[in-house]
Amino acid sequence: MCGIIGYIGPEEPVSLVLEALSRLEYRGYDSAGVAYFDREAKVDVVRASGKLSNLAALCQGRAGLPGPAIGHIRWATHGAPTEENAHPHRSGPIVVVHNGIIENDRELRKSLSSEGFSFSSETDTEVVAHLVHRHYRTTGSLPEAVRLALREIAGSYALAVLCEERPGELVGVRRGAPLLLGEGENAYFLASDVPAFLKWTRKMMPLPPDVIAAIGPDGLALLPVDGSPPLVPLFEEVPWDPVAAEKGHYRHFMEKEIFEGPRAIMDTLEGRIAPGHGRVMLSELARLGPSPPELVFVACGTSYHAALLGRQFIESLSDIPVRVEIASEFRYRPLRIRKGAWVVGITQSGETADTLGALDHARREGYLTLAVTNVPGSSITREASATLLTRAGPEIGVASTKAFVAQITAVWLLALHLARRTALREEEGSKKALEILLKSPARLEGFLGALDLGTIDGLAEKVAASRFVIFIGRGLDYPLAIEGALKLKEITYRPADGYPGGELKHGPIALIEPGVLVVAPLVDPDLSAKEWSNIREVEARGGTVLTIASPETAPVLPAYPLPATEGWEGVFFATAILQLLSYRTAVLMGNDVDQPRNLAKSVTVE
Ligand code: M6R
Repeated sequence: MCGIIGYIGPEEPVSLVLEALSRLEYRGYDSAGVAYFDREAKVDVVRASGKLSNLAALCQGRAGLPGPAIGHIRWATHGAPTEENAHPHRSGPIVVVHNGIIENDRELRKSLSSEGFSFSSETDTEVVAHLVHRHYRTTGSLPEAVRLALREIAGSYALAVLCEERPGELVGVRRGAPLLLGEGENAYFLASDVPAFLKWTRKMMPLPPDVIAAIGPDGLALLPVDGSPPLVPLFEEVPWDPVAAEKGHYRHFMEKEIFEGPRAIMDTLEGRIAPGHGRVMLSELARLGPSPPELVFVACGTSYHAALLGRQFIESLSDIPVRVEIASEFRYRPLRIRKGAWVVGITQSGETADTLGALDHARREGYLTLAVTNVPGSSITREASATLLTRAGPEIGVASTKAFVAQITAVWLLALHLARRTALREEEGSKKALEILLKSPARLEGFLGALDLGTIDGLAEKVAASRFVIFIGRGLDYPLAIEGALKLKEITYRPADGYPGGELKHGPIALIEPGVLVVAPLVDPDLSAKEWSNIREVEARGGTVLTIASPETAPVLPAYPLPATEGWEGVFFATAILQLLSYRTAVLMGNDVDQPRNLAKSVTVE
């Protein structure tokens, strides 16, 4: 939600900031803005409502002096997505970009107005600019002015601040919202996410909360807000390839990322299988100790659907009871879970406020927490007791695709890890599950290489022509069904919902009529026969059903035939088809696939 960038270094800043913002556009696209030192060494602030391309058009022909510059991409919370509300916000010489929410904005506005500060926007950020300005007047120091301003602010923030009177300085600070530092050749970056500066450097460190990054002529100083001694910067190399954040020959990031599924599985497996392929070794989990008496997954959206698959994997390979909770609901309920339980947060971004809140709720009650996340150095990695990284690489498309595939891989690995430790089921079952998992990258690669896009487009036309789409599934197919429905809603805006196949007759079947389409993935070898009964019930009422199934789960030719599958591997195939079905439908409808309306990639507000 909102993306910020700060840069100080030798490059021309306007084009650099615009390029960096283009890597953050997935975080919001209601407005964008940049502030930089112009040829007269004055700060020029340029802002535009709507997408980044509007700002880029306004910036045509503009170039700044090498020095600090800041930029912002907005997902509106306080105030409409207008130019006035676009960041950067300015007060005297102080210019600020912000990601987060200032909770005491109203009180601060009142007191600052009574002191003579005038407001030109409805945003909560403008109070920050005025507060820093007020303290700058008395201290003459930018880091100190920021530090004093923070004392008055309640809420969450990642801030980048510059001052017209300090052309060699840039300041950043965060609490409850992400901010990373990047170190380049005679240059520093501040950014909400790694892809923003990946083109220039891989050296990154997450800025700890309540520590001011003060960059000036003497380099970088990390100054704790509470006045304790400065911290020593410790940069690490991000294992991401800069090309991974580029679209390449694909039309959309989403399309590219669907085809990166096999690589996401392979990279997530890397180094986690003991030599000889005998067993899974998740050394990252060593800190959690022996296997838990209960495991609780907390997650949102697509990550929640991966957790539902995780429950099925773990419960079928071990005797550990597993619960799956929507993070935003879990965090406000009393914890009624067994002593010693692990609470596992699954999150692509590692920044989802609800998932972080849920994990924090568990941590405060003394539970061990595990983060399953795709972003090294993200907030959740710093807050959980242990971290299991998925390795899908940067995911730019707002609709999650390859990260979901990597999450499925991670929970599959987790199930095998726990199965080995409890040794409840026959060794054979786990062995087979591991064998199948190891073959999955190549099998999925082969499957994607032989796709019948004509058939998918034919199905997409049917989806585009329907008023409402119901996705159904049982067992493993239920999480796939609700994930299929979510994907379709997100990028086609078509009303869609997912139900367990068996639930249909308890209400939703009343919706079946011409114009309503049912989509049924069928990859659960144990429950597909039951699911076919549900399909027959729909057909008997004149409904049209599109099935995605392999020969062993389909008594008749399915709408999209999958190859013969073993064990759980069908989840990867069906996922790819469901993702492509939404993608091709959205393209057919002429929608903006990578930046669907109203959404943002990381949801850092509640
Ligand atoms: O970063 P997270 O995995 O925590 O994000 C959770 C959801 O916001 C996310 O999965 C969302 O539902 C996606 N847009 C799905 O495509």
